[in-house]
Amino acid sequence: MRAENQSFPVKSRDIHNHHMDSTIWDAFRFRPDDVIIATYGKSGTTWTQQIIGQLIFGGADHVPVHEISPWLDLRVPPKDVKLAALEAQANRRFVKTHLPVDALVFSPEAKYIYLGRDGRDVMWSMYNHHSKATDLWYQVLNDTPGRVGPAIERVDCGVVEYFQAWLEKDGYPFWPFWENIASWWAVRDLPNVLLLHYDEMKRDMPGGIRRIASFLDIPIDEAAFPKIVEHCSFDYMKANAEDAAPLGGILWEGGGRTFIHKGTNGRWRDELPEALSRIYEERALAELGPDCARWLQGGHENHA
Ligand code: A3P
Repeated sequence: MRAENQSFPVKSRDIHNHHMDSTIWDAFRFRPDDVIIATYGKSGTTWTQQIIGQLIFGGADHVPVHEISPWLDLRVPPKDVKLAALEAQANRRFVKTHLPVDALVFSPEAKYIYLGRDGRDVMWSMYNHHSKATDLWYQVLNDTPGRVGPAIERVDCGVVEYFQAWLEKDGYPFWPFWENIASWWAVRDLPNVLLLHYDEMKRDMPGGIRRIASFLDIPIDEAAFPKIVEHCSFDYMKANAEDAAPLGGILWEGGGRTFIHKGTNGRWRDELPEALSRIYEERALAELGPDCARWLQGGHENHA
């Protein structure tokens, strides 16, 4: 429910880095039924895109999610190309973003779904994503016009060191983590925002799909529902990874199946030293406060 006096967020800054150019939002022409899927990254964005693609297209086979559902604030392809392709879509549009809420244009009519995931799971996923990136990934991010700030380097360390650098230099070599989570948490009660958690979706995906459908006012065709659920399962998405993984997966060794990696949580438990894990938890508490920090660890069931 919308809290009394809570107003809609207003874009107050831009973010530029090797991946992002938030200024595209200034030129994006919203339609009232647009859907925006937001995450920090590696938090189930593609899974949510697949769910929405399945709901919009009634459980159809091989919905080309990666083609029709772009990452709007990614610097490539150029703004004009991306915006023209979105203008040409006649279907209900759904795009993804990895921006904090104050760095994008927020429409009071569009619907926003934000997915959270524990930062340790995010970074175990990110390590795989980054360390398996191909030369083309580096070319696309580092050598295309419009990059602001340093290039992204190749991974030259193990996962624990990678996690530690990310924690110590808030988001390095990507973008800040805590502000991303906190900004979306702060707007969670707006009527056009749905806050979900990766773990909740894992615990009850059919229930999660129904929640998303209800939030988006998409009636569920019960005859098609089993197909929708099957097409959103990890095994199906891994087997058909070229449909949903960004650019069909061409930016990773092993293709889309590398991107749709394991679909599990807690892999850090065997590797991350207890002391570093505690530092992460203390930082989460300090940055997010107790309610949000608890939610980030496991979703609303964890958020008493
Ligand atoms: P892992 O690397 O931990 O396996 P994003 O799309 O935000 O980049 O998130 C990618 C993560 O979501 C990857 O996590 C990927 O395997 C996982 N994922 C993709 N599809 C999934 C599904 N159907 N069920 C569970 N996890 C899924």
